[in-house]
Amino acid sequence: MPRVVVVVGARPNFVKAAPVHHALAATPGVEVELLHTGQHYDHALSGVFVEELGLPRPDHYLGVGSGSHAAQTAAVLAGVEAVLAPDPPAAIVVPGDVNSTLGAALAAAKLHVPVVHLEAGLRSGDRDMPEEINRIVTDRLSDLLLCHCDEAVANLRREGAPDGSIALVGNTMIDSLLRLLPLARGRGAVERLGLERGGFVLVTLHRPSLVDHADRLAEVLAVLRGAAERMPVVFPVHPRTRARIADDGLDAGAVRLLDPLDYLDFIALEADARLVVTDSGGLQEETSALGVPCLTYRTTTERGVTCELGTNRLVGTDPRALAAAITAELEREPRPAPAPIPLWDGRAGPRAAAAIARLWSPTPGS
Ligand code: UD1
Repeated sequence: MPRVVVVVGARPNFVKAAPVHHALAATPGVEVELLHTGQHYDHALSGVFVEELGLPRPDHYLGVGSGSHAAQTAAVLAGVEAVLAPDPPAAIVVPGDVNSTLGAALAAAKLHVPVVHLEAGLRSGDRDMPEEINRIVTDRLSDLLLCHCDEAVANLRREGAPDGSIALVGNTMIDSLLRLLPLARGRGAVERLGLERGGFVLVTLHRPSLVDHADRLAEVLAVLRGAAERMPVVFPVHPRTRARIADDGLDAGAVRLLDPLDYLDFIALEADARLVVTDSGGLQEETSALGVPCLTYRTTTERGVTCELGTNRLVGTDPRALAAAITAELEREPRPAPAPIPLWDGRAGPRAAAAIARLWSPTPGS
């Protein structure tokens, strides 16, 4: 029976991988295993996501933990090789663009295990971001490139990926969002935090290029303090950002700093926010699917489709531009939700599983 190993490591991986894991598990004649690298290990960044997304206990846990990029990627590489080599599976699925994605893809490719990249073809054009390097190398190593939009397909074609290796399946992160939002809303996180639906700004910032520079982080916090004078601002803080704020003695003022939220409470807040300010990739997508305005505090995005068809606006990294964009957004009437992005429809997981199954049983004529 073909066996597929699905790899997860860091927070966004769980959200993307779960729908594919579920769909593979429901495919007759396929055995699916979950491999957790342990890149994220805190319960708030890892365990709670596994539970809420309905993933099983991992079959393999590597415990690689934190480290430099080289050390972390190398630990994943060696750990994944040790799992796969004794009994190579029919395929390995690697989601997203984190260090675990790259390490696992490289280990598998060297063992001639077919690599399936979930969320292939995204490009920001900015190699200062470690994720961009992870995306490019993972795509080059992959036998099957699962794309979530036309732009990603076009990027891969431009780089010479064979047509037969590309499958446009849609966005599995949106499968998780649509499936779990009713349950999430029912838990009442908005009310528990004393917020009003549509009456608060939700912030997440965790990119090293921003938070590892005290001056840049201080500038953004000043803008957010200003916004908090008009409307409550809530900021669930990644451990990296929390450490920087504490070490540098930065002033958050009336901005409400929260511990990282679990997935369900987070999407409940996101769905009812008046505005989201972020440097995350996934939030650009989720807000577009939810019709919530999003300001992305970066100079580039690998998710151009969210600016073109969704609710996202790239504001750059000038704090004055961010302040002006927040003011303009809060003063305007809420915009009507845009039309849904093609294939971001809650059924990407089954399409991904079907494309994976064609690796060992191609449909006639394909
Ligand atoms: C990683 C991904 C990033 C993704 C993010 C989602 C890479 C290169 N980056 O960034 O693309 O958007 O995950 O959250 O893979 N830490 C904890 N607890 C944990 C894990 C980490 O406190 O469970 C702290 C440690 O101090 C660690 C730091 O966070 O050094 C950074 O963790 P790391 O896994 O290196 O990258 P992220 O910033 O989380």
